[in-house]
Amino acid sequence: MFKTSDGELTVTHDDQDYTFPTVTGTEGDVGVDISRLRGDHKKITLDYGFANTAACRSSITYVNGETGELRYRGYRIEDLAAKATFPEVAYLLINGELPTKVELEEYEAELRGHTLLNEEMKAMFDAFPRGAHPMGILSAATAAMSTFYERYHDPRDEESVKESTVRLMAKLPTVASFAYKKSIGQPYMYPRNDLDYSSNFLYMMFGLPVEPYEIDPVVARALDVLLILHADHEQNCSTSTVRLVGSSEANLFASVAGGMNALWGPLHGGANSAVIAMLTQIDQDGGDVDKYVAKAKDKDDPFRLMGFGHRVYKNFDPRATILKDFAADVLERLGVNDPLLNIALKLEEHALTDDYFVERKLYPNVDFYSGMIFRSLGFPVRMFTVLFAIGRLPGWMAQWKEMIEDPNTRIGRPRQVYAGYQEREYTAVDER
Ligand code: CMC
Repeated sequence: MFKTSDGELTVTHDDQDYTFPTVTGTEGDVGVDISRLRGDHKKITLDYGFANTAACRSSITYVNGETGELRYRGYRIEDLAAKATFPEVAYLLINGELPTKVELEEYEAELRGHTLLNEEMKAMFDAFPRGAHPMGILSAATAAMSTFYERYHDPRDEESVKESTVRLMAKLPTVASFAYKKSIGQPYMYPRNDLDYSSNFLYMMFGLPVEPYEIDPVVARALDVLLILHADHEQNCSTSTVRLVGSSEANLFASVAGGMNALWGPLHGGANSAVIAMLTQIDQDGGDVDKYVAKAKDKDDPFRLMGFGHRVYKNFDPRATILKDFAADVLERLGVNDPLLNIALKLEEHALTDDYFVERKLYPNVDFYSGMIFRSLGFPVRMFTVLFAIGRLPGWMAQWKEMIEDPNTRIGRPRQVYAGYQEREYTAVDER
């Protein structure tokens, strides 16, 4: 039985009252602080997938899953996507405030100062097999960067942390493009510091040393917007991983590499490529959308509609709302006629009117439309999750920094309810 009163929650179990303080956030969400539950009462909580557990207090990103709202440091995602640039949003997330014009110029200059990789890192890219997945290369190269900047490892040293956040932001597009160039056997392209962040990335991805590469401003802006939309999403799987790794005081590079591996999975950032694989399969199978909706509803079939559903959003994912219109606009402006967009629209229409999806509040998420746009911009499917990682990087770093600066932080170390054998006698191998 639960009873709440101002700033406290009392639970009665076996005629005993357990009273806990409650914490109310700036948007009214209430957390029951059970930090002393085990110490005082020798009991723990069990919460699969941490669906009911706040692991920290955070001032970075606000998500309201019921109303479909997303804000970075108080600013609506719709405004940032329409008006800001990706480096500006990265600065906002990491430093807490929007930069002034001068601060932004300084930040961009700092980023330009670190776009090159240490030449010795090139041997590492060469060592991967030709078909290596770029996400594997990305996380390996990020972890490897820690070996080049060992004197910046101290998480308590503000200057080291600042330098590391700049280095990671500046170098990740270079790493990503090297991973791609390696996979197609083309020469690695060095960054061009006269270009803005997204244009430079496009140049390193699609340029060649033997001919000029013209930046399409529509493509560059579309990429910038996509990166902004991915930049943070509070305590998701990869961000929680970054925080957990960092809670042991592991350095920023190692913590971010951990987050990248978590992002790779198809239930998280890997969903954007899984969506394209699914749409292609439906297309090649004659475009029978009903058949795939039925498969997704069949509990004996492991198939799920990729790009649908979200742990937090029980209404439209606002990023998907922005991207739906944006996808149609970008495809039109680029003159791309992609049959997969029609299948995506049909699938969405079916799913939104079907009881199964309506009852479970399964709406398209960010990954449903982002893949369509990445594809129209010319990115190969295997790079989609890498793009998500470049976008999410400032969020990971902001969250890591907040965790390190929070005096309440302790090493992340969940408990378990042990469900195995009780003590038993060992028998020697020849007696078994
Ligand atoms: N297709 C069919 N059924 C679904 C789907 C789906 N995509 N997603 C959830 N369900 C069903 C699920 O079977 C369950 O049904 P029931 O109550 O009958 O057992 C119910 O909806 C609740 O699902 P859940 O798995 O308990 O929800 P969750 O919060 O644990 O998982 C999710 C969230 C995003 C992992 C899940 O919806 C999913 O697997 N979606 C497809 C993968 C995807 O698009 N991931 C990207 C997430 S958004 C961006 C990001 O994080 O990277």
